[in-house]
Amino acid sequence: MKNSLIIANWKMKLNSSESLDLAKKIKKASIKYTGAEVVLCPSFTELAQVREIIKNSDIKLGAQDCFWEEKGSFTGEVSPKVLQDYNVKYVLVGHSERRQNLGETEKMIHNKVRFLFTTEMTPVLCIGETFEQRQDGLKDVVLTRQLHSALNGLWLNKSDRLVIAYEPVWVIGSGQDIDPDEIEHTHQIIRQLLYDLFEDKVVDEQIKIIYGGSVDPENVAKYISQPTVHGVLVGGASLDSTHFTSIIAQTKKL
Ligand code: PGA
Repeated sequence: MKNSLIIANWKMKLNSSESLDLAKKIKKASIKYTGAEVVLCPSFTELAQVREIIKNSDIKLGAQDCFWEEKGSFTGEVSPKVLQDYNVKYVLVGHSERRQNLGETEKMIHNKVRFLFTTEMTPVLCIGETFEQRQDGLKDVVLTRQLHSALNGLWLNKSDRLVIAYEPVWVIGSGQDIDPDEIEHTHQIIRQLLYDLFEDKVVDEQIKIIYGGSVDPENVAKYISQPTVHGVLVGGASLDSTHFTSIIAQTKKL
């Protein structure tokens, strides 16, 4: 049985009391589902309080972004070291909403991943093609470029972990299901690309590839049952404790 990784990305969708309320409900409901690794990514402003709520549980804390230096004149940015002090274990990097809305470049993404490897936190590198790129037959080219630019020249020490989140941009927030065979095929391509970058043992033992894009209680079982899908990154459905708990429960059964 694989130990699946289930990451909740709350984006900027909740106010403070909603975040805390949701964290409490998820903690309560997920107690019986030990085994799957569950990560909550609230806004930076709620990290400290969510950490308090989930302490003494198996749920881990994640952040939605970070900067690529420890300290300095970087107004408005958040240091990875500070996130580590908050007991953050995972950090999303290169989410398509940041690439699109905030001009996050491949160089910035590379720098973030590189810095995170100097900490004890695990980068969750988000990659994926847009609808136009897919229509133009460029999906594999885009994924190759995104992976290579983010990871070229980097290596993983024994204790380092890396998560690749494959999220087709056109599926995010759309409510669309996608063919699980297509996901499996794309994950296999990603895996192959990773073998070009790292030793086989590193890819097999230290890197997980998860899927994101309108994952919900109805479609999660068919996604997660694919051999190379090691977990899911959940946006919309993670904002409802019943839906999110159902996702955890179904993942656990596999
Ligand atoms: P979604 O978001 O589940 O709402 O599609 C996923 C994501 O953006 O990570």
